Amino acid sequence: MRIDVITIFPEYLEPLNVSLVGKAHARGLLRLGVHDLRRWTHDRHRTVDDTPFGGGPGMVMKPEPWGEALDEVTGAAGHPQEGSPAGGPEPQPPVLVVPTPSGRPFTQQVAVELSQRPWLVFAPARYEGIDRRVIEDAGTRMPVRELSIGDYVLAGGEAAVLVMVEAVARLLPGVLGNVRSHQEDSFAPGPMANLLEGPVYTKPPVWRDRAVPEVLLSGHHGRIERWRRDEALRRTAALRPDLIERTEPDAFDAADRKL
Ligand code: ADE
Repeated sequence: MRIDVITIFPEYLEPLNVSLVGKAHARGLLRLGVHDLRRWTHDRHRTVDDTPFGGGPGMVMKPEPWGEALDEVTGAAGHPQEGSPAGGPEPQPPVLVVPTPSGRPFTQQVAVELSQRPWLVFAPARYEGIDRRVIEDAGTRMPVRELSIGDYVLAGGEAAVLVMVEAVARLLPGVLGNVRSHQEDSFAPGPMANLLEGPVYTKPPVWRDRAVPEVLLSGHHGRIERWRRDEALRRTAALRPDLIERTEPDAFDAADRKL
């Protein structure tokens, strides 16, 4: 997968070189490009924002630098697209991801969808957002997803990019050592869909007088699975009852209903 990020704070994205995403990058499973939006300004002050038409507080990001940046990074400016063989079929355009608190919620399902695309371009904004025409214009050439990572307001979209890139990168083939570790995640599709993961334990079997639940040491896979599901159900009912209410009734079995 290829990921490009256009930002006025390239250094904010440095954590992408660390840990899981950094390793995926180093191993060639992910190609990352971070671009300074100010490269596409042409005035002495390298201006990226201006006052909003119609008045109001704050500043709005100007359309010209964003337009030129997106044209160049996505190849719409007539430069050959990376990875497209000369004379070959038209490559898939990137998905443009615009982090904004007024977007659709970024969920595990959205992360799975994005992880199946070959190319994502992130356009995090500062200030009050990007001039609307940039999003509309880009939308004529590529799918655009305006996404929010939660009902709170950050100072800019860069932290949201870090969140989304990490959620997507760990789903890419070969990035996690053990595929089961994301198949069994909270929110992953399957029998545990919509349930929060229950508690986990490792050695030693007793620590500060606290013993690991017997069943986990029993070697009885059926009982262990049942116990894990019960714990997940209890935790979800206590902390996120909305997830249980949203789940189809036939997703629950007879043993679930006894809880
Ligand atoms: N930019 C500012 N707040 C945000 C949020 N909650 N999600 C995504 N982008 C943002």
